[in-house]
Amino acid sequence: MSGERTVGLLVGRENTFPQAFIDRVNDAGKGVRAEMVRIGGTTLDDVIPYAVIVDRMSHEVPYLRAYVKKAVADGVIVINNPFWWSADDKFFENVLAQKLGIAVPKTVVLPNRTYEADIIDESLRNLAPIDWETAVEHVGGFPAVLKPAIGGGWKNVTIARDMQALQDAYEASGHLLMILEEFIKYENYARCFVLGRQDVLVSKYEPSLGHFDRYVQGDTGLSANLHERIVRDCLTLNHALGYDMNTVEWAIRDGIPYAIDFLNPAPDFDVSSLRETYFNWVVDHMAEMVIGYATGAQEAIAQTDQIGNMRWQQMIAAPHAPGTARAPVTAGGTTHGG
Ligand SMILES: Nc1ncnc2c1ncn2[C@@H]1O[C@H](COP(=O)(O)OP(=O)(O)OP(=O)(O)O)[C@@H](O)[C@H]1O
Ligand SMILES: [Mg+2]
Repeated sequence: MSGERTVGLLVGRENTFPQAFIDRVNDAGKGVRAEMVRIGGTTLDDVIPYAVIVDRMSHEVPYLRAYVKKAVADGVIVINNPFWWSADDKFFENVLAQKLGIAVPKTVVLPNRTYEADIIDESLRNLAPIDWETAVEHVGGFPAVLKPAIGGGWKNVTIARDMQALQDAYEASGHLLMILEEFIKYENYARCFVLGRQDVLVSKYEPSLGHFDRYVQGDTGLSANLHERIVRDCLTLNHALGYDMNTVEWAIRDGIPYAIDFLNPAPDFDVSSLRETYFNWVVDHMAEMVIGYATGAQEAIAQTDQIGNMRWQQMIAAPHAPGTARAPVTAGGTTHGG
């Protein structure tokens, strides 16, 4: 390996980002090599041969989540932090954002519509019936948005115009944990790529258009002040959540940016929806970030975020640094995440 640092990539059914990213890292001449991870069962003793893993698929494939959690324990930097990703949901994110002074829609989290077969009435004795009138009133009436607390691709997202539509959508939500949100009637809308702890690309976004046309290139229509606030709020959110690869949506109402969806830790990076300019920006900045992490330039930030606050991290001996993986921060070491 001659001291070469290796980056592993986990991907879903995407065809343009993976190879472009791998090529960009490999062509950078920084002594870092990127490749697709290929695994089929992992033991406790397996050596994870990566300094960094870019994970775009463990939310759909539980084995991959188990693998990247072991990787973190072995000292690998995983983008994004699988421990936090596993704990995250859109209700908690709104709770956190509000406490951080970021505007979010009024939100109600609701009990599930249905449960697994052996959850019976007796199992649900803590639950009272949903008071729909009060919930709708809290979010400012109709239209109101019902959407999964964990989800993507607009699946099960409903903008309900009346109580019947809301109840129908809830009836169809099955086992999903759902949130009811105030509909932010926006005068402008932005979606931002937020990579690492400093890179933000703000794009105008038009939700009313088809999937491949929503990113509107060019002028965002945002004043300098609003642009600056959005960039700052994006970084605050990503830093608080510890994500290095995320997109954050903003609906602007009366000049105030409301954070709409910032749980996108495996965002769409396909050239067909990003188009050439944004795609190249994403590939360049992703490559630059992982090279920084793999070569140590940014190591402390990610490592502190990922494991510095884990009690178990302080209890395990610094693991061997297998191949290219690095030792974790030690207890009492770096305590601030940049
Ligand atoms: N509170 C809200 N106010 C106004 N519009 C909303 C609100 N919540 C969601 N939307 C609209 O619904 C769309 C999908 O919602 P959301 O982004 O939460 O779902 P998602 O499944 O995570 O989507 P994606 O795959 O684009 O990340 C948003 O792009 C926005 O246009
Ligand atoms: Mg989303």
